[in-house]
Amino acid sequence: MKNYLKTSDLDRVEMDKLIESAMQFKAGVRADKPLAGKSIALVFFNPSLRTRASMQVGIYELGGNAVILEPGGSSWTLEHRDGVVMDGNKTEHLAEFVHVLERYVSAIGVRTFAELKDWETERTDPILNAFKKYATVPVINLESAMHHPCQSMADMMTIRETLGPAKKKVLLTWAWHPKPLPMAVPNSFALASAQFGHDLRIAHPPGYELDEELIAEIERQAAANGGSVEFTSDVHTAFDGVEVVYAKSWGGKQFYGDTDKDIEHRAALRNDWIVDEAKMAKTDNAIFMHCLPVRRNVIVTDGVIDSPRSVVIDEAENRLHIQKAIMTKLI
Ligand code: CP
Repeated sequence: MKNYLKTSDLDRVEMDKLIESAMQFKAGVRADKPLAGKSIALVFFNPSLRTRASMQVGIYELGGNAVILEPGGSSWTLEHRDGVVMDGNKTEHLAEFVHVLERYVSAIGVRTFAELKDWETERTDPILNAFKKYATVPVINLESAMHHPCQSMADMMTIRETLGPAKKKVLLTWAWHPKPLPMAVPNSFALASAQFGHDLRIAHPPGYELDEELIAEIERQAAANGGSVEFTSDVHTAFDGVEVVYAKSWGGKQFYGDTDKDIEHRAALRNDWIVDEAKMAKTDNAIFMHCLPVRRNVIVTDGVIDSPRSVVIDEAENRLHIQKAIMTKLI
């Protein structure tokens, strides 16, 4: 594994080993320092609490040093496209940025969200792939336009430590949010669930379908790993009998470039597409999951997120342990 860009960069056996390694870090059994004397760059084009703090702490705990860079903020604005006449507002090209940085560091973590402007371009993860193209050191995806593998591996670890290793009935449900959001988290959660052979139900209203190529990959992975995938747009039956509820809002890909149209499309969905106590009562005593940050009483009611079945803080903690396992494997 040279880079870690999506969960399917590893197969099921390797993913199991990664979770075992993360659980050893969590239990305090492992205290090795594979990053001793090394630095890792963390490049944030977008805000973060969990990813930034857990990576910085994880690198420290592995004996290394984190170099945090914010293009357009505390470091120069970056151009990632090839052959561009750079007479606009971008100061440095990613080629030089990466080649300079890798003289100092042993890996580069990158956070670069979808801008929700141009679906056909953004679905190809252009900025993350430019890092991959130029870097000779490992690149770690800290959430791109299409994938958030560190989050999803922490989610899979959380399901395993809470409910055990057997496959589970897992619901990924769209939720109403006042504005469209990127779809990296639902993409990666669905893909990872399929790779772990869970029985996955994906619930969303019409207009919020995931990427077709990714759905085909999710269906392939589910079939190969003994799981299943089903889709529903009926929020009233979606929760029936599931053991895991994973809530996330995302934007409709046909609305990329027209935020107002997405907001108009979703206006009628607000009352139904929220995770509340009545929906959780239809489940098989499901745990509630969300990657955070979450808008209380918009995505999920206080009663659900504050209940004993909510594992959102465990998910956030597990980011630290799984990322230590990922960095140990990569570097
Ligand atoms: N879940 C997650 O990635 O959180 P941050 O955006 O705060 O890093």
